[in-house]
Amino acid sequence: MKFFIDTANLAQIKEAQDLGVLDGVTTNPSLMAKEGITGKDNVLRHYKAICDIVEGDVSAEVIATDYEGMIREGEELAELDDKIVVKIPMIKDGIKALKYFSERGIKTNCTLVFSAGQALLAAKAGATYVSPFIGRLDDISFDGIELIEQIRLIYDNYEFETQILAASVRHPMHIIKCAEAAADVMTGPLSAMLALLKHPLTDSGLAQFLADHAKVNS
Ligand code: G3P
Repeated sequence: MKFFIDTANLAQIKEAQDLGVLDGVTTNPSLMAKEGITGKDNVLRHYKAICDIVEGDVSAEVIATDYEGMIREGEELAELDDKIVVKIPMIKDGIKALKYFSERGIKTNCTLVFSAGQALLAAKAGATYVSPFIGRLDDISFDGIELIEQIRLIYDNYEFETQILAASVRHPMHIIKCAEAAADVMTGPLSAMLALLKHPLTDSGLAQFLADHAKVNS
């Protein structure tokens, strides 16, 4: 399973890249706003800065919600760097835009997906990635992981090439459950990735090893 980081924070992206396990980055307009990135030129410059740090795909979301606007914005984003994946919302014009970009070999990520039917449509339109938001489903008492399993079954039944990018991942158990459900990618915060490291027996075991070593080497 590929690990993407879900942030527009350059320091966190660099930290994850330096860890050596990062495969890409996802952003969204809320994450860009959180970093205080405003104005078209600054936004494009910021995406380019992310591409310069990371080895892998970088999802950059369109703001337009009409077909022509999404095409215009998506083409501009895709021209920035080969790593750019145009992120398109799951709406009617979005489906048409996914098809347009897929026919031209431009990578896409269909975002705000909350049902198997939406994921089926995204795959039929040729999306490179589909982003089911598992955390936001869990927030309203729907099982996000169950949706990943459902999409996996459907995509495997028909050999769709669209990759399942489990999004809205919040904690380490989400990452583990996504891996069990055979998601192709998960995107989450750096804190969730680093939390995978933790085990009290690792900490106590290492402390014991070092203490035993020190006893005979001091
Ligand atoms: O990038 C989209 C998604 O990952 C958002 O996550 O935590 O805002 O639900 P969250």
